[in-house]
Amino acid sequence: MGMEKRQKFDGYAAKYDEWFMKNENLFISELRLFKKVLGDIEGKKLLSVGCGSGLFESYIDTANIEGIEPSEDMGRIAGKRGVNVICYGLIEEVDLPEEEYDIIYFNGSSSYMEDLPPVYEKCLRALKSGGRLILLDVPKESAFGFMYLLGKSLNTYDHEYLEGTMPELPYPLALACSGVWHTTEEKISVLKSLGVQKFEFYQTLVKNPLYTNEEPEDVIEGYKSGGYVAIIAEK
Ligand SMILES: C[S@@+](CC[C@H](N)C(=O)[O-])C[C@H]1O[C@@H](n2cnc3c(N)ncnc32)[C@H](O)[C@@H]1O
Repeated sequence: MGMEKRQKFDGYAAKYDEWFMKNENLFISELRLFKKVLGDIEGKKLLSVGCGSGLFESYIDTANIEGIEPSEDMGRIAGKRGVNVICYGLIEEVDLPEEEYDIIYFNGSSSYMEDLPPVYEKCLRALKSGGRLILLDVPKESAFGFMYLLGKSLNTYDHEYLEGTMPELPYPLALACSGVWHTTEEKISVLKSLGVQKFEFYQTLVKNPLYTNEEPEDVIEGYKSGGYVAIIAEK
């Protein structure tokens, strides 16, 4: 399906990947979290919602990974990287088969969606029993979340009050502005309202953004300090 409407990430495919490549240690920290929460994917069927350019997937076996991506710019690159992009569209507009996937994950994509309950409900239905819905995001309440919301409010990261606080290469402002930043608690309560009872939480990027790219960080349990947090919800 071709999308005619301009999508939030159209025109940002190169900038998005380049930002991670220039912030290599931040990327390694996030990749560690991504790999940790996906776990052993051998023989499992996965769906990446908002797979983007498949940057993270290019570091794992993509043989059984399907993707949904509204931005053709991004999705075409994911396809080249081995993700089977089954739909160029919004998750809100896609029909998913029931009880089909072992893992459905959103790596940073919930942060661009307004209305999470119907989207998560659809994905929970598409999971096999015992399957896992995995949500990785910058929490609204984290230092990174504050930074992006400030950028979104001011339409710039440059402000005299912020002097000396910003990382050398902050996330592209347009992508901070188009984000719909959610708190982790908000996502947990949506999942609970949909019947999820079993959760695990992991996080990384616990340093202040100014220092995040100095060296890769380890993954730690919990969700209350990280600038990048994973919720694992079991069906
Ligand atoms: C921060 S990027 C993450 C991309 C990729 N998952 C990664 O980790 O590099 C967010 C992605 O979500 C996609 N996205 C935004 N809204 C979406 C929606 N309603 N349905 C599906 N994907 C969406 C964007 O196009 C973008 O590629």
